[in-house]
This record gives sequence, structure tokens and C-alpha cells, in this order.
Amino acid sequence: MRKPIIAGNWKMYKTSDEAVAFVDALAGKLKATDKADTVICPPAPYLAALVEKSKELPVQIGAQTMHEEVEGAFTGEISPTMLKSVGVEFVILGHSERRQYFNETDESVNRKVKSAFEHNLTPIVCVGESLEQREDNATAAIVSEQVKKAFAGISETDASSAIVAYEPIWAIGTGRTATAEDANEVCGQIREVLAELYSESAAQSIRIQYGGSVKPGNIKELLSMSDIDGALVGGASLDPESFAALAEAGA
Ligand code: G3H
Repeated sequence: MRKPIIAGNWKMYKTSDEAVAFVDALAGKLKATDKADTVICPPAPYLAALVEKSKELPVQIGAQTMHEEVEGAFTGEISPTMLKSVGVEFVILGHSERRQYFNETDESVNRKVKSAFEHNLTPIVCVGESLEQREDNATAAIVSEQVKKAFAGISETDASSAIVAYEPIWAIGTGRTATAEDANEVCGQIREVLAELYSESAAQSIRIQYGGSVKPGNIKELLSMSDIDGALVGGASLDPESFAALAEAGA
């Protein structure tokens, strides 16, 4: 039985005061449960403060990206050891916005996934097709290629603890959600690829999230699907009421 994982990706939203107010507002709304994991991925400047604040709550903190090197002359970048040093546990890697606007490729995503495991961070590995690729019936091929490349050289033991987020690009921030059946079909295909790469038992232990216009009104149906084990949520994770409702649906 896979434990659902609900992760909020705040992207480039909220001031420091708003981030702290969010966590304060969440206190009392978020019930402690061992039935689901809940993660908030704030902008980098607030990571350390939110790790501290989250100690009072059943929530863990993740970063939205990282560089694969431990240190070096990489202006503006943040390393895995820096994330670990402030208590970050998760890191989103290969989000489609990183691929689209910051030139991340399957190869660079793979280097980051390797580095995350080397430094005991749990990667949330994002994959997903564009609208054009979906209309060309290329979804399965594109997503399968992204998964194979992201996990190249990753051991079965490490891969078993990874999280994969299936995010069709056309559903991100558009209000257009994939139907639960369509999302589940692709998540099932991802699991098949993982079974081919590793083993059936590894594939059964890897949690696969769906992302793309998830909100309190549609999360239950998505989570009821056989291969959807959680959600990576953008817009609806910015409001504490809404985030608490999403977390509650996972538990
Ligand atoms: O990482 C989150 C996704 O990009 C989904 O964003 O929930 O605003 O569509 P959204």
C-alpha cells in the first residue's frame, strides 16, 4: 500500500511574511496523520525559516530545484548540501517550467536526480507531455523517455524511494485537469516503465503524483485512481484553507 503524498509547489509566489502567515494559518487545520505525507515547496529564501516553523506541524519542506554540484562558481544556484544543511527533505526536479524557461534537459535532470540521492534528498521527478505531443498521440513515448533518462544509472534501492510527478504541461495553471482516467492511464504507463527498468516490486513502491490544476474539488477522484498516489499542486497550494483540504483528502 503506497502512502499518498500531497506536495504544494509555491513556484515564485509569496513574500516572507506571507510564507510565515501561511504556516501559522495552517496550524490547527492540518491534522497529524501517518496515512499521508504533506510537503510544502516554498521559494528558496524561505526554506530555512519554514523548516523551523514546520517542526510544529505534520508537514515537511521541499525545494523547487537545485544544482547537482555540492559547491562551486555557479552564481545563483543552490546545492544539495545547502538544502540538507537547513533541513530540507524533498526537491522537485525537472519541473516543466524549469525545462521550458531554464534549459533543463533530461540529461541535466538525471544528474540532479543522482545528486539528490547521493545527498539523501527525496527527488520529486517531474515528467509530462505538451498539448502538441498529446494531440500527436505521443504521450506514452515522451513520458517513457523522460522517465528512462531521469532514472539512468539510479539503483533500484534509490529509485524505490523516489517520487514521480506526472504533470501534463497543458494542464498546469490552466484550470484544465486531465480526466482522472487519463491521468491514471499515464501514471500506469509510468509504473510499467519503472517495472521494466527495475522490478515489479520497485515499481509498486514508487509513488506517482498527478499535477495540473489539482484543487480540493477534484483531488478525491484523482486519488481514488489505482496508480495515482498523490498530487503536486501549484495554485491551489497557495491558500492555507485549500492546502489543508488537499492534505485532508490525502489522509
Ligand atoms: O507543480 C505544480 C504544477 O505545475 C501544477 O500547477 O496546480 O497551478 O496547475 P497548478
